[in-house]
Amino acid sequence: MEIPRLHPDTIEQVKQRVDIVDVVSEYVVLRKQGKDFVGLCPFHDDKSPSFSVSPSKQFYYCFSCGAGGNAFKFLMELGKRSFGEVVLDLAKRYQVPLQTLEPAQRQELQRQISLREQLYEILALTARFYEHALHQATGEGALRYLQADRGLSQATIQQFQLGYAPAGWQTLYGYLIEQKHYPVELVEKAGLVVPRQGNNGYYDRFRDRLMIPIHDLQGRVIGFGGRSLGDEQPKYLNSPETELFDKGKTLFALDKARAAIAKQDKAVVVEGYFDVIALHAAGIVNVVASLGTALSLAQVRQLLRYTESKQVVLNFDADAAGTKAAERAIGEVADLAYQGAVKLRILTIPEGKDPDEFLKHHAADDYQALLDDAPLWLDWQLQAIFADRNLRQADQFQQATQDVVKLLGDIANADTRTHYVRQCAELLSNGDSRLVPLLAENLLAQVRRQRRRSPEGKESPKIAKVSLVEFLEQAEATLLRIYLHSPDYRQQVVDALEERDLPFSLSHHRFLWRQIRDIEQASSTDSGSDDLTSIDLVGQLRDRCAEFAGAFNQVDHLFQLEEKTQRDLLRTPLVIKAASDCLERVMCEKRYRHFSDLWQQTDFVTSADLSQYYYKQLYAEKKRMEELDRQRSITFAELAQTPWIGEFYETLGIPKG
Ligand code: UTP
Ligand code: MN
Repeated sequence: MEIPRLHPDTIEQVKQRVDIVDVVSEYVVLRKQGKDFVGLCPFHDDKSPSFSVSPSKQFYYCFSCGAGGNAFKFLMELGKRSFGEVVLDLAKRYQVPLQTLEPAQRQELQRQISLREQLYEILALTARFYEHALHQATGEGALRYLQADRGLSQATIQQFQLGYAPAGWQTLYGYLIEQKHYPVELVEKAGLVVPRQGNNGYYDRFRDRLMIPIHDLQGRVIGFGGRSLGDEQPKYLNSPETELFDKGKTLFALDKARAAIAKQDKAVVVEGYFDVIALHAAGIVNVVASLGTALSLAQVRQLLRYTESKQVVLNFDADAAGTKAAERAIGEVADLAYQGAVKLRILTIPEGKDPDEFLKHHAADDYQALLDDAPLWLDWQLQAIFADRNLRQADQFQQATQDVVKLLGDIANADTRTHYVRQCAELLSNGDSRLVPLLAENLLAQVRRQRRRSPEGKESPKIAKVSLVEFLEQAEATLLRIYLHSPDYRQQVVDALEERDLPFSLSHHRFLWRQIRDIEQASSTDSGSDDLTSIDLVGQLRDRCAEFAGAFNQVDHLFQLEEKTQRDLLRTPLVIKAASDCLERVMCEKRYRHFSDLWQQTDFVTSADLSQYYYKQLYAEKKRMEELDRQRSITFAELAQTPWIGEFYETLGIPKG
């Protein structure tokens, strides 16, 4: 919606009055933690509280899904509302007078808000018009097509509100404008009519097409896909982007699929409207489609809200196979998959069929079986690398090795990477098990080299992001190790974290930290003493380990001390400082990226205030990062003895000393 500029004073006043904690706590249960509040993130399905709200910064941020912003942004994202609507609401709530707005502007504002309502109304009416036409004489051919060629039942046709746009240039036009008296500009804004060249009236966008309405999460019609019935091109004509319809943010049938996605804890994404319809008709309901484009981050985030364990299966048309094509279709999910934030699986149906075609000759169970067997994206890519290669030939062996190294270098999690290094070594060994350790070692060395090199290379900022996560792992682990094994420094660790509002952001570390605090609390209640140094944490954690087998898998290596870490402990104060610097550096980086994304997406003319706000934030983060980097070069001489810390800064491209 194009917002008439609210008077800057009004926005400013609202901004001053609004309290982020107040706003957020209407939707999220918040608990105080240090200077901040934490709770379960409302933007994704959060199991442990990753969502933090800072009253001092008037800012929220989710360390798991990356959602973040100020109170305005929170309400905009949560309610899918525009900046203007949100500010207006808040102004009412905090009784900020609106009289500073020019009367003409105020009217304009009212008009804009009701514009959306009117567009919804027109689209709903149009969907009903098309539905009706499908069952008239004019829609006979289309109905026959649905029933005979597509094999759809009346119930499915109804469920998806399928319809028919009659032939003729002004059929819908006649209905909406002449009969219902909607202003033609409004109908144009709904994407339903197109102006003729030379100011010469309007004609219907959709003519003689099978109509598939696209709904938002609340089930309101926001656009249409129209399939030609003959050889008319294009095969599918879609609504243009409108006030209500944003292709990159919409998934077809999510309104009908979301309950099933939550229940089965898995989302399936297919390519076509009719693939969704056929699967739903066959009883496989956790299925949505992207609208003819690569999956965007916004689309994936929506899906991840409903699947707790972040499982997404992509069903490609197999003829589009080949890793390049897959990568294109996977779009922005790729990054999330490498970071381990999505468990991405790939399903390709044999013989190059799409789900709709497959179901013509197979039962729903057969599709379900394919779904259950769909390989992880990484495994799928490995299969592709090894598929047509003869490893006995030197050049092909080398090519396979190169591809593998490139792939492995993108994996963020060290354990996952180790697992795949081993697996690739086995594949490359071609059955000669004596070679495996050697090949694994060789691969590992190459992968390390590539990971160290690539952030500076121009190619992929993705990898830089990934390594930051890995360093975060190291920095957090270091702090936890010190905490566990050097009781005298426990208070110092707590101080370092609290001083700078630094939470543990990796979930397994947060888990361990909670256990630790738990044990401490229990023991201080028992003994009446707050002394952090006297508790045998490792012993008690080991007991818990035995009790809750499995839960500690990712952290129990911290209970042991290796020689290298023992060395670290000798220089503890410095290491605590360096590690918490790393933590903060990674946080800053995340927030910096986040704000610069927002800033780039914000129109600095229509949303000047917001734009300026984002810029200020990103600038502040940038400054802080520079400061941290400067501090680091002062202490480098000592830090160099803790290799990963040196490596961390090297990865950031900061020269030594
Ligand atoms: P496909 O061309 O793979 O077709 O388009 P399909 O879904 O199998 O279609 P049927 O079975 O022949 O009816 C996949 C999706 O790509 C988008 C549509 O969203 C379609 O469902 N698309 C395709 C377009 O937007 N425009 C086109 O011209 C073609
Ligand atoms: Mn098809």
